[in-house]
Amino acid sequence: MVEAAKPHILPDPWSRESWRTKPAKQMPTYPDPEALAAVEQELRHFPPLVFAGEARRLRASLARVAEGKAFLLQGGDCAESFAEFHPNNIRDTFRVLLQMAVVLTFGAGVPVVKTGRLAGQFAKPRSEDFETIDGVALPSYRGDMVNGMEFTEEARIPDPKRLIHCYNQSAATLNLLRAFAQGGYADLHQVQLWNLSFVADSPQGHRYSDLVERLTEALEFMDACGLTSENAPQIRETDFFTAHEALLLPYEEAMTRVDSTTGDCYDTSAHFLWAGERTRDPDGAHIEFLRGIQNPIGVKIGPTLEAGELLRLIDHLNPNNTPGQLTLIARMGPDKIRKVLPPLIRAVERDSRKVVWVSDPMHANTVKSASGIKTRYFDRILEEVRAFFEIHREEGTYAGGVHFEMTGQDVTECVGGAQAITEANLSDHYHTHCDPRLNASQALELAFLLAEMLKERRSRERARRPVRATP
Ligand code: PEP
Ligand code: CO
Repeated sequence: MVEAAKPHILPDPWSRESWRTKPAKQMPTYPDPEALAAVEQELRHFPPLVFAGEARRLRASLARVAEGKAFLLQGGDCAESFAEFHPNNIRDTFRVLLQMAVVLTFGAGVPVVKTGRLAGQFAKPRSEDFETIDGVALPSYRGDMVNGMEFTEEARIPDPKRLIHCYNQSAATLNLLRAFAQGGYADLHQVQLWNLSFVADSPQGHRYSDLVERLTEALEFMDACGLTSENAPQIRETDFFTAHEALLLPYEEAMTRVDSTTGDCYDTSAHFLWAGERTRDPDGAHIEFLRGIQNPIGVKIGPTLEAGELLRLIDHLNPNNTPGQLTLIARMGPDKIRKVLPPLIRAVERDSRKVVWVSDPMHANTVKSASGIKTRYFDRILEEVRAFFEIHREEGTYAGGVHFEMTGQDVTECVGGAQAITEANLSDHYHTHCDPRLNASQALELAFLLAEMLKERRSRERARRPVRATP
């Protein structure tokens, strides 16, 4: 096997605050830096939200994905918000993710690693620094972690106290997610109850009910063999991990702690952190911060990335070539992906870099509808995922997962899908604080379509496996 190329220059020493010496994009300017410093100091004393051991468990699961033996599902809000904070919203997003995971497990025949864009996804990068309405220009909304969405001068002033609010909301959200994941709600025997009422009576709902029937039969069979919820934790509970974009570095720095068992630094604000498309400059502050923490890391890769820059990013983010440490989240658009992704895959393969490849078919597919509403077309989303799978098949590499913006609510933010949401319907239930999300029905529909692709892949692999001769 070819050894991975090592970086030629020794990197500068890393510390929790070394990012402060690098250019930082997309960071707000706080009018009162002392108030920010006081909040950071307060956060440094708050308990960790996640533990290093959990982040290591996720890394081990992602290593299985890198080997082609598991599949990664990442999903959740574009931006969590204070206004939409409600146990029912958390429950509904969680249950749709569980449904999607069951559908995908059936298709892929491998474990599905579940991570939610939840319990910390509050800060947003923006393409424009200012938003103009009726000739009035105000600083852009940058997520509830930074400022308010209302279009007033006061709301748009960055307020550091929001960091404490985010911490508290994340802690409460995570508490509920842990209870759902481990307290019986995620037991596979509950699979029928995960169906949301507004989805149940739809083509997706019926398809899901068929799957539930098959799963129930399988569970009865396992029960007869002695594997029950009481003695098999895999049936009773699930691992569920949290993820968000590591955008607001003062918060991430304050949540970064030294793990007492290994001496390594972990960002305890989430299990998995990623760098966004706008902040992934290999010489910038965000990559500097992320290179020193031991959590599994993601990086969004867009249509302008070139192979040399990607390899530099990998040098920084996974210098020891640890499987599961680095996930590349491709968000290129269905047209550009065919040109851009293959050379990147080849460069990674040539250098034997161990990465997880994931498709985010949302972020290069945001458009304005005729009436000026930000939307995404279901068909374009599907087209990009399909292209992602096809490219990996052609290159002989493993398409390891998907990354979606979705919600358990019955929203009308993306056009299309079996419910046939039209541009005219968009304003009926449009609640997102940032980008348009798939609703529960569209998310489930996508999961079924993906499951078909995964099933095909599995059949192809099975057909390729040598048949053992009987002695
Ligand atoms: C996001 O994931 O919400 C996001 C802003 O993505 P990207 O950095 O890929 O544009
Ligand atoms: Co988004």
